[in-house]
Amino acid sequence: MQTAKNLPSSAHVAVDMVLDTAYQNISGPQWKELFSFARKSHIPEFIEDLFSGKHVNLSEDRPALHSALRNLSKTPVILDGQDVMPSVTKVWQRIDALCNQWVGVTDVIHIGIGGSDFGPRLAIEALAHVPDIDSRGMRMHFLANIDTAELARILAKALPHSTRVIIVSKSFTTLETTMNAKAIVAWLKKSGLTQSQINKALFAVTANVSGAKAFGVEEDHIFPFWDWVGGRYSVWSAVGLPIALQYGFKTFEEFLAGAHAMDLHFRNAPLEENLPVIMALALLHQQEKDGIKSYAAIPYADALDWFPKWLQQLDMESNGKSVGKDGKPAKHSSPVVFGSAGSNAQHSYFQLFHQGSEVIPIDFIAVRKPMSDLPEAVAHHRILLSNCLAQAQALAHGKDASNPNDVYPGNRPSNLLLLPELNAFYLGALLALYENRAATLGALWNINSFDQPGVEYGKVLAKPIEKALGSGSNHVEANDSIDAVTAARINLLNS
Ligand code: F6P
Repeated sequence: MQTAKNLPSSAHVAVDMVLDTAYQNISGPQWKELFSFARKSHIPEFIEDLFSGKHVNLSEDRPALHSALRNLSKTPVILDGQDVMPSVTKVWQRIDALCNQWVGVTDVIHIGIGGSDFGPRLAIEALAHVPDIDSRGMRMHFLANIDTAELARILAKALPHSTRVIIVSKSFTTLETTMNAKAIVAWLKKSGLTQSQINKALFAVTANVSGAKAFGVEEDHIFPFWDWVGGRYSVWSAVGLPIALQYGFKTFEEFLAGAHAMDLHFRNAPLEENLPVIMALALLHQQEKDGIKSYAAIPYADALDWFPKWLQQLDMESNGKSVGKDGKPAKHSSPVVFGSAGSNAQHSYFQLFHQGSEVIPIDFIAVRKPMSDLPEAVAHHRILLSNCLAQAQALAHGKDASNPNDVYPGNRPSNLLLLPELNAFYLGALLALYENRAATLGALWNINSFDQPGVEYGKVLAKPIEKALGSGSNHVEANDSIDAVTAARINLLNS
């Protein structure tokens, strides 16, 4: 482990990652109060419950054991009297074996949406730049949207006879995923593959093994994960299969190892040194102080451009709720999260950060090492880092001027999170840091972070609307499930 030299007093280190909260503008006594609030909110007990498999997902009466999926030390995790690690290890062995079997594969189509898409998509992109990464050079296609534009783009490139398909769905009932999977199977058939060749090409990752079998995936091509993976944001199970297939099982293990190291830190470090807890408390402080309604994550690393999208699902699907675990209104819940890679983001919405009327806290995420080995890398990287530091400083202090247009109000809080380099290990640590932070925030807000009932209603309403659209009639009338506005829109579309 490296130790950071010249560490500012406002900084903390975990898994070689430095978190500097200097620009949060939180005084010593305020930090004390925040930590004491965390204790009053039973955060240490919550962390222990989370790791030991207690049913922290109250509405679905399940644990949320993401940590077991990256528990490379294989210490037993007992659930209902049984250690889950042998099943987890068995899946790792099957992933490893599959990596060696896929020789001559030109294209992999990963079909999945939401939590079954963001994590692997982010990891494939983020690691592509690592100079000495052992890339197998397959074209890795991600098919999520029901919009056939994405499907068409993929089918224009993929070679059907050397394509493998992975259908990833925890429930195996998600409409986008099953429809896209059917479309891919139809394309394979149309391309002249026999049924046995199609069977050979088709794989599934799911908690609903019987659903995958019913779809036509052979049993030994199904990689299971389990109901105890509460919430939907896990890339750590076989959902992360593309990482192993593209970059080798060793890289996948490094990814898990980084996350596991962050878990050990989260479970064992005192609150005052605990990165996920500190970040959660800083956000809570800004909610209490400025009533902030949004925050931004800006990775100064082009390879992490997908990170904010991954984070949006993690934070907003987990914690975007207004009712607490006790059924009463929650005082706070997830702010809106957004962001994109710096320095591009500076040329887009940073104007609002500096001079807008709202305070928007920012996580600046920087990487110490340049992210390519091009001759220009060192010089460009210095500019990237100086931009990152300058933005944080400008936001913190602001600037006075006689012309009101030139005034920067300042006092705009931010974190600096510094990664030693961007590789599989630190990517794993970064994602686990934010997952643990989301869980901590849920516990501080007394919110169940591990279910997502709010996404269901729209899905239910879409069914009668689809039927009405399919009828071709432009005389649809409002009824119990279609209101007058929507009926008029259906009639417009059917005209
Ligand atoms: O949008 C709702 C949701 O259930 C997400 O939570 C999930 O990540 C996504 O749909 C896909 O679900 P599944 O993995 O079951 O297909």
